[in-house]
Amino acid sequence: MYICICNAVTDKDIKQAVDEGANCLSHLQERLNVGRCCGACSDAAGNCMDKHMARQFDQNEILSF
Ligand code: FES
Repeated sequence: MYICICNAVTDKDIKQAVDEGANCLSHLQERLNVGRCCGACSDAAGNCMDKHMARQFDQNEILSF
């Protein structure tokens, strides 16, 4: 699903960026240019990043037991 129409950034692109170390919106902007045109996608990009990071955290917690 497209998150940033201006820069053709998808949720998969954002998840991959998180997997590669992005952990804040400025990191996503540097890597993907998300939110750097009209800015309408900034909240959705941040939410997508937060949800993926939370999922990673939950999986790591499960694996640590
Ligand atoms: S939709 Fe992302 S910058 Fe415009």
